[in-house]
Amino acid sequence: MSTVVIIGAQWGDEGKGKVTDFLAAKADMVVRYQGGNNAGHTVVVEGREYKLHLIPSGILYPGKTCIIGSGVVIDPEVLIAELDALGKRGISTSNLKISQRAHVIFPYHRRLDQVEEDRKGDQKIGTTGRGIGPAYMDKSARVGIRMIDLIDEEEFKALLEMNLEVKNHLLTAVYGSEKFDFTEIYGAYRKYAETLSGLVEDVSVIVNEAINSGKNVLFEGAQGTLLDLDHGTYPFVTSSHPSAGAACLGAGIGPTKIDRVIGVAKAYTTRVGEGPFPTELLDETGEHIRAKGGEFGTTTGRPRRCGWFDGVIGRYSARINGLDHLAITKLDVLTGLEKLKICTGYIYRGDVLNEFPASLKVLNECEPVYEEFPGWQEDITGARKISDLPANARKYMERVEQVSGVPVAVIGVGSQRDQVIVVTDLYQA
Ligand code: GDP
Ligand code: IMO
Ligand code: MG
Repeated sequence: MSTVVIIGAQWGDEGKGKVTDFLAAKADMVVRYQGGNNAGHTVVVEGREYKLHLIPSGILYPGKTCIIGSGVVIDPEVLIAELDALGKRGISTSNLKISQRAHVIFPYHRRLDQVEEDRKGDQKIGTTGRGIGPAYMDKSARVGIRMIDLIDEEEFKALLEMNLEVKNHLLTAVYGSEKFDFTEIYGAYRKYAETLSGLVEDVSVIVNEAINSGKNVLFEGAQGTLLDLDHGTYPFVTSSHPSAGAACLGAGIGPTKIDRVIGVAKAYTTRVGEGPFPTELLDETGEHIRAKGGEFGTTTGRPRRCGWFDGVIGRYSARINGLDHLAITKLDVLTGLEKLKICTGYIYRGDVLNEFPASLKVLNECEPVYEEFPGWQEDITGARKISDLPANARKYMERVEQVSGVPVAVIGVGSQRDQVIVVTDLYQA
């Protein structure tokens, strides 16, 4: 297996947590490399559900080193709550390390996220409201506060003073919002710093050492390719890079160290928040999928928009991420539908578009071209090999593979750790 990057091939919530947890059985280390607590990765082990926001999904196995890389933005309050919640459930977090270079989310980032969404009105992005965008803005503007700065009392004081002066001015003068009190934030964050300082390390050294000594390392992406700042449906995207290339930057390794990239996609498509979604189903089939698939956000509880599998997106994700394999999740959710559809291309003003367009104006006008498939009625949640699937489910999966142009290695047939069909053993591939 060696080094495998696991990314979301759609708009997030594809089941990256479950696939990471499944593959982590034979990994030594799991690294989160971008995003923040906008992510919600659900893992179900022996009937117990864990919702992880910042901590890598490998934490559920004892003895795996878990890393939060420099590309992640950390809300320390959320991280500490997550550590406590895992501890209470008997999960050891003693193998967690946090990058010195990861940036920190502050209350003013959350407020700025909210007031900027309010300002946009019906043009809003539908963010998770966790302060992700404003925290990455500060990082790019070179005024952000990193974990290494947070745990240095003097440095932190100076940086917080400088930031708060500007943020308070912005909040009051531009947005008509309220000021934040320095002492309150400083006091709270000094406590967070004390709690977390023992975990803060130069994690690039640790990850490179693991790779160089032949360890199996998984890189767990957050969000999905179509939420990528460069390659997603801009501006309806997140402020980081959920695509595979970011694993290098966000973990502090070179591209030559990556062996394989796995794209996780649902057997259909979902999206939370605003923005275009060509195969969206605004009818009762969409509602049926949402109810059966439990399609409500792990982080915000918002209903997820649901639609058919989109092969244009499959091909696009394959290209952007250099996918070696796909892991298709939630095939079981499609059981019982009489007819299924797969989008193979888009029609734009009478012409077939085979590639995903950059212009949202064009995308909004695109009509999906569908192929129709007969469904299956048999319960597939107990299937463990491809031959256990009904013929119609196999045909559907074959077409998903063909239109995406990427071999399917893993098929999810339920939320439990073992509810998986392994088509290609990724440890051997
Ligand atoms: P992530 O953000 O990509 O990790 O995905 P989420 O955890 O937000 O959403 C995926 C949801 O689908 C979670 O509730 C998982 O427990 C669930 N899930 C994952 N794989 C499967 C599957 O194959 N079948 C079913 N029924 N549920 C699945
Ligand atoms: P995981 O890792 C699905 C979406 C938000 C919004 C947009 C921008 O669980 O797949 P942000 O708060 O990041 O500025 O919001 O991105 N979004 C996600 N959608 N899954 C996620 O994470 C998401 N993280 C952010 O809904 O549309
Ligand atoms: Mg999620």
